[in-house]
Amino acid sequence: MFRIKDEVYWVGVKDWELRKFHGEEYSTHRGSSYNSYLIKDEKIALVDTVWSPFQQSFIKELDQEIGLDRVSLLVINHTEQDHAGSLGFLMENIPKLPIYCTKNGATIIKKHFHKDWDFHIVKTGDSIDLGRNKLVFVELPMLHWPDSMATFVSGANVLLSNDAFGQHYAAPYMFNDLVDQGELYQEAIKYFANILTPFTKILRAKIKEIKNMNLPIEMIAPSHGIIWRENPLQILEKYDQWANDYHEGTAVVLYDTMWGATKKMAGAIAQGLENKGIGTKVINIGRSDRNDLITDVFKAKGIVVGSSTINKGILSDTAAVLEIIKGLQFKGKIGGAFGSYGWSGESVKIIENRLTESGIEVVPGGIKLLWDPTNEELSQCEAYGELIGERIKESLV
Ligand code: FEO
Repeated sequence: MFRIKDEVYWVGVKDWELRKFHGEEYSTHRGSSYNSYLIKDEKIALVDTVWSPFQQSFIKELDQEIGLDRVSLLVINHTEQDHAGSLGFLMENIPKLPIYCTKNGATIIKKHFHKDWDFHIVKTGDSIDLGRNKLVFVELPMLHWPDSMATFVSGANVLLSNDAFGQHYAAPYMFNDLVDQGELYQEAIKYFANILTPFTKILRAKIKEIKNMNLPIEMIAPSHGIIWRENPLQILEKYDQWANDYHEGTAVVLYDTMWGATKKMAGAIAQGLENKGIGTKVINIGRSDRNDLITDVFKAKGIVVGSSTINKGILSDTAAVLEIIKGLQFKGKIGGAFGSYGWSGESVKIIENRLTESGIEVVPGGIKLLWDPTNEELSQCEAYGELIGERIKESLV
């Protein structure tokens, strides 16, 4: 436990060893943390818990530090297991503890734990007086679950934002001004790209709403990673940018290859893009971390995807990445497709269809080549890269 500001304390857990989150879906190269907070006022409020593998140590430490019987109420900002996972064990120890959460939060808790605890449903603007501080609730539906909300500690002026503004990042220090800025921003943008991209429209409206509430935010304390202490609104401004069809004017050429022909095509297409002044990253899908790759897709304006044809389809790693891209529904991106084949050659059409379904504008002229490309055919690939580069440049005007 340590004080983050005034009477607000961090009582969470750093998970140094975590390498995958959401099952096997999200890579966490730098671990993570589950940030639970305690407001030690006349009434003592606990905000969120930690993932269940840490429940014993979490509750033991809470008991040693303040005594479980002194906790007056629990706020559950979000019911996902990484924050509400210790709820069952906590309630075994304090069965009558009042739980404050959204309507959807109560529904989900009941479906997870099959208990009818002392629920108190809260909405945006509702508040609880703790003595010197007040908890003010701000619903954040679909950021990123229907139950999500944030709690503003009025008095200490700390926004406990839950997943929003967080990062899967276990760091030696817990404040933004004390950690490596490159690592911090890489983890923050990766989190946004992979988890929040489908909800950008809702996020834009919510950022406006939060700004209009004129909360005197002096610190933003999310439920993962470091706490924004120095210039805390910088992450709100970043979210505002990231939620507005963000790109850095670059392109990615994503490819998967069996014997190197599609790889040669990828190189030629990248050359074409660069001929037009579009900075391009070439990524072997099968050899890359999918969530890092998605972060690169998020930053790019152009997304060109290539796969060999296999069994009338595309290679399995490419299929998986296209499935993720479809789910995330990026806005304002421009794409293309290519691939080598031996006899049937379906891959380019499949990729073009998947990109279109994903809301990506496909530049016509996707290239499929039989067996290994000749120099002339590689020149065609380069020309296709130039065509996509031109379209990207037009779109940037
Ligand atoms: Fe960190 Fe949506 O849970």
